[in-house]
Amino acid sequence: MRLSSTPLLFLVCTLSTHFSLAHKEKHQTCRNVPGSAGYPKAAAWSKLNATIGGRLVKAVPTAKYCASLPGGACTDAQWTSALFRSTIPGSMNKNNWEQGYDLTPPSLCLRNATICGQGDVPIFSVEAQSAADIQAAVKFASRNNLRLVVKSSGHDGLGRSTAPYSLLIRTAGLQNISMTDEFFVGTRNMGPAVTIGSGVHTQTLYKETKANGKVVVAPTAATVCPAGGYVQGAGHSALSPLFGLAADNVLEFHIVIASGELLQVNSISHADLFYALRGGGAGSWGVILSATFRTFPTFDEAFSVIQIAASSNAAMGALAAVHAHHIFDLEPVRAGQYFYVFAATSNTTALTLQLFTHIPNTTATQAAVLLAPFRNAALALPDVSLVAEKYIVQNVNDALFTADDAAGNDMVVGSRLIPASVLRERPDTVGKVYEQLLDAGALEVASFVVAGGQVAANADISSAVHPAWRTAKTHLLTGNFWTDQTPLAEIDVLRRNFQTTQLTIMEQLSGKNGAAYSNEADVNEPHFQTTFFGLNYAKLTRIKAKYDPDDLFIVMAGVGSERWDEWGLCTV
Ligand SMILES: Cc1cc2nc3c(=O)[nH]c(=O)nc-3n(C[C@H](O)[C@H](O)[C@H](O)COP(=O)(O)OP(=O)(O)OC[C@H]3O[C@@H](n4cnc5c(N)ncnc54)[C@H](O)[C@@H]3O)c2cc1C
Ligand SMILES: *[C@@H]1O[C@H](CO)[C@@H](O)[C@H](O)[C@H]1NC(C)=O
Ligand SMILES: *[C@@H]1O[C@H](CO)[C@@H](O)[C@H](O)[C@H]1NC(C)=O
Ligand SMILES: *[C@@H]1O[C@H](CO)[C@@H](O)[C@H](O)[C@H]1NC(C)=O
Ligand SMILES: *[C@@H]1O[C@H](CO)[C@@H](O)[C@H](O)[C@H]1NC(C)=O
Ligand SMILES: *[C@@H]1O[C@H](CO)[C@@H](O)[C@H](O)[C@H]1NC(C)=O
Repeated sequence: MRLSSTPLLFLVCTLSTHFSLAHKEKHQTCRNVPGSAGYPKAAAWSKLNATIGGRLVKAVPTAKYCASLPGGACTDAQWTSALFRSTIPGSMNKNNWEQGYDLTPPSLCLRNATICGQGDVPIFSVEAQSAADIQAAVKFASRNNLRLVVKSSGHDGLGRSTAPYSLLIRTAGLQNISMTDEFFVGTRNMGPAVTIGSGVHTQTLYKETKANGKVVVAPTAATVCPAGGYVQGAGHSALSPLFGLAADNVLEFHIVIASGELLQVNSISHADLFYALRGGGAGSWGVILSATFRTFPTFDEAFSVIQIAASSNAAMGALAAVHAHHIFDLEPVRAGQYFYVFAATSNTTALTLQLFTHIPNTTATQAAVLLAPFRNAALALPDVSLVAEKYIVQNVNDALFTADDAAGNDMVVGSRLIPASVLRERPDTVGKVYEQLLDAGALEVASFVVAGGQVAANADISSAVHPAWRTAKTHLLTGNFWTDQTPLAEIDVLRRNFQTTQLTIMEQLSGKNGAAYSNEADVNEPHFQTTFFGLNYAKLTRIKAKYDPDDLFIVMAGVGSERWDEWGLCTV
């Protein structure tokens, strides 16, 4: 599952399928790909298509889809829209995950290019509308030994919802939403809850909860699917300090597992799978149809935006240190906060801090008072200046609603969870880390203050959520970016940049064996088992063996992926 996996492996393993029966324990086993003897013939695909009501489609890269449109191209507005991309089966939100950089030879499909390879885009997609569609697709993949992938929004920051030569099950069509005041698990009334299909976008959920006088723990995003990858990874929110993680608030799943069975999964039915689906990693357990989340009565919040410019990396580092010194100011009011630092661009000589703060049940005046100690200390620093500042009171659902997500760029991230104790004892180290990351060329460094409060108070919940979440205060991330013009060798360097340069800098805060949030992290973490899952990994491995004994659901850096190559095509 590392970038270093030799491309030759692919050739070797396709050949080895012919011998796999005779020498099963000695040889690699591989998924059937076009050209291998066991790959389904056209008639078999047609039969599957008929079974699922004609909802089998050929998947193509976004750029190829765009080329097929009248006029032969997508507009900039389409290319960069996550909502637009969610209508295209083969599309990922980040352009880079569609590219087969590591295939031999590399297979790319770039915007407006004349040559287009299939890259890491699946071959066919089952555009699922029902449990029966999913069951048929899972059984087909299992019977024909295919590489299977699952996608709802295609937002994944680790590329786990796409794979070359694969069959995709896309759950974007599962749009059911229902609310109840009394959700029962067995005979136990769990109170008000909302059940959403795994294709329901965050923005739709916020609209629906607002209309019903409720709110849920959900992302700061428009099109992320809360019942898809988000909750399986843990799911942080601006509301997490107040209500906990999404995984702490999910009451039930309906999921099709590798055998094709549809299971109702909750604390009393398949409780082991319920444990795994809450933090055990996206895409490793089956195909989720729906998830039920606890709802809370809605309320107004104060939403604050403070934008500050700094003229040097050192000045921005000082600003980050001041923020760290004041990071516990908002703990008593259970605020959620996003601290984004952007390096200077070719157009701007200054660096920019954008600070977004969500404070429940607070007036604009109170919010300004609560933020004043940070704000005033920040503006007293040399070489910084206030660019913009506002405090708005609105319904929490409206504050968290966004119209669309930016998409179409090339980006990978790396991250660590930062313990509250480190921020209490050594806040100045945060300043050094920001300055060093910026000096090392980082274009974006963000701290999400989405832990502490109820996330810490939920430490006794038995789930696969990494225990480091319970003692963390922030989730610290860097982004590495490129464009279609970037040479492949440089892209390779950027894909490794977190491991080669940024991680050691972050480790001044996280320590050497720090944890990371599996949904927003580097897919090339060498020890992903402990980095993403900690001591829960052994238990997750046992649950995986029970529900997915043949590794049908394998994603990069997911449970069991150590047995497979980078593409999930051959065992290693
Ligand atoms: C703009 C943006 C904002 C974000 N904001 C937040 C945030 O506030 N908090 C947060 O915690 N994270 C956030 N994330 C990260 C987000 O949680 C992950 O990208 C997550 O993987 C998205 O899940 P998805 O199902 O929408 O994406 P997809 O790319 O469709 O899938 C992601 C993973 O989930 C699996 N999966 C998808 N659907 C299903 C299904 N039906 N059944 C089983 N497995 C499935 C896929 O196989 C893949 O492994 C954000 C990401 C972006 C791009
Ligand atoms: C599946 O069937 C539908 C309806 O008959 C058809 O439009 C579609 O092209 C078929 N898919 C494939 C991949 O052949
Ligand atoms: C691609 O083509 C469209 C339409 O011609 C154009 O608007 C856009 O700028 C082009 N983009 C790139 C990156 O070439
Ligand atoms: C969606 O809701 C309808 C009406 O209740 C139901 O018939 C259907 O099975 C649901 N779909 C899924 C995928 O759960
Ligand atoms: C730089 O400025 C130009 C012209 O105003 C604009 O088109 C472009 O998007 C800007 N680039 C960045 C990286 O902000
Ligand atoms: C907000 O205030 C109302 C009225 O005092 C209270 O009932 C509610 O519980 C509060 N909600 C939160 C999230 O603090």
